Parts: sequence; structure tokens; C-alpha cells
Amino acid sequence: MLSVEGVAKTFVGRRPVEALRDVSLHVEAGDFVSIVGPSGCGKSTLFNLIAGIETPSSGRIAAGGETDADRRRLSCGYMFQKDLLFPWRSVLDNAALGLEVAGVCGRAEARSRARELLPRFGLEGFEGHRPAELSGGMRQRVALLRTLLLKRPLLLLDEPFASLDALTRRELQDWLRSTWRTGSEAALLVTHDVREAIYLSDRVYVMSPRPGSIVAEVAVPRGAGGSTGALAAAEVETAVLRALQIETAA
Ligand SMILES: Nc1ncnc2c1ncn2[C@@H]1O[C@H](COP(=O)(O)OP(=O)(O)OP(=O)(O)O)[C@@H](O)[C@H]1O
Ligand SMILES: [Mg+2]
Repeated sequence: MLSVEGVAKTFVGRRPVEALRDVSLHVEAGDFVSIVGPSGCGKSTLFNLIAGIETPSSGRIAAGGETDADRRRLSCGYMFQKDLLFPWRSVLDNAALGLEVAGVCGRAEARSRARELLPRFGLEGFEGHRPAELSGGMRQRVALLRTLLLKRPLLLLDEPFASLDALTRRELQDWLRSTWRTGSEAALLVTHDVREAIYLSDRVYVMSPRPGSIVAEVAVPRGAGGSTGALAAAEVETAVLRALQIETAA
């Protein structure tokens, strides 16, 4: 589904910035994989490379068998770290925009698909509001809805729940966990919340500080119902925090 092999990225400018060094990771169909790492280590850069928005300085990326950047872009449903809503469009029209632009369906159908999911995203009654009239968390939910509606094979979610309260966050995590497979084949999530990574994913990649590289890959064991026992979750958390070099109380 996704293969990143020995990818490096240095931004050239007034002062070159080496963002990523020798990053390799693999995601199979059916996988939900998280990436955690310190701020500035290159997580968003890695997503931009995977989605074909930026070009790697070296290395190779294939998504859904496609190495061509334009084709890769079409196989990715990418929710940017910044919500990127159009200020003059309503909630409903912003949510429907992805489907419209991709030419999946016409405006009326796109609006109707988006409207169906508004209650689930806590946006019912706000369909006519503009982004400036929403809270940060609501804007984020519109952006998440827009991305998920696209149903692209590979979901790239860059901190989709960052400014949500704990309750909404858990509701949307549960919803994402139970439904992402209906639209997409694999998902990659950037989060700073180690427990969120464990709750949602089959595997957690840990990145080093910049220049970012993968320093650990930790599998999350799941039982028959898809849940991880408290003990196993604690063990995974300790392993991830250790890789992040965050000391835990023994
Ligand atoms: N377009 C760009 N031009 C120049 N430098 C860039 C560009 N984009 C990112 N960088 C640099 O690359 C490094 C990694 O940035 P990136 O946004 O990928 O980090 P991140 O891991 O997503 O951080 P955060 O957790 O804070 O979102 C930073 O030092 C940043 O300044
Ligand atoms: Mg980022």
C-alpha cells in the first residue's frame, strides 16, 4: 500500500534545513499506522512527500504501486495540519469541496453526502456557518469530514484531533476506528498523543528529533475484538516513550 525507502529531504533556502534522513516505512492494506515524534522532526514534511506535494532529495516512495507524484496525490486523502478551509464557503460547502474538486460527484450529491455526516461530527445546525464563525475544533472537524468523504485508498491524517476536547476527541476516534475501512485501505496518523496512537493503530513508528528518522517501530497487540488489554497498552506506551527518550516512572 505504501512503501517509503531511504527517503531524505533537505530544504534549500537561505540556510539549508535537513528535515528527514534515511526514512523507511511500510504500510500494508488494512493497516492503521501512527507516527509520533518531537515537534519539527519532519512528520508533516514526510506526509507532503508521500502525497506528492514535495519532492524528496533522495529515496523512493510508492503508494498503491504508484511512484509518480501526481498519481500518488490522487490516491491520498490528506488532512493537513492546518485546516485550510475556504473562508467564504459555508461548513457544508467546505465539507463537500473535496468530492466536488475531485470530480467524484456533482455539487448537489456532494452536499447531500456531507450533510448526512454532519450530526456525527457535531456540526448539525452549523451547515450555513462560515469558518470564521466556528471554534478551532469545529473547523478541524469540517476538515476531517471533507477528507474522509473522499474515500481515497490511503488516508494521511496530520494531527486531526489536536484541538478537540477529550469527549469529542474520543467520539471521533471511535468513529474513525470503526469506519475508516469503509472508505480507505490504509491509514497513517501523525499525533503527539501516544495513547491516541495506541488506541487507534496496529503499529507506531517513533521518529527522532530533526533530522527525523525512524528510531523505533512498536507493534500494538490486539485481541479478537480489536481491543488492547490495559497491561499490553501500558507496555507499548512505555516502549514508545522510551524511544522518544521520555523517562517514565518505573
Ligand atoms: N517548505 C519548507 N521550507 C523550508 N523548511 C521547511 C519547510 N517545511 C518544513 N520545513 C522545516 O522542516 C523541519 C520539519 O518541519 P515539519 O513541519 O515537517 O515538522 P513536524 O514534525 O510536522 O512538526 P510539528 O509536530 O510541530 O508539526 C522544520 O525545521 C521546518 O522548519
Ligand atoms: Mg507537523
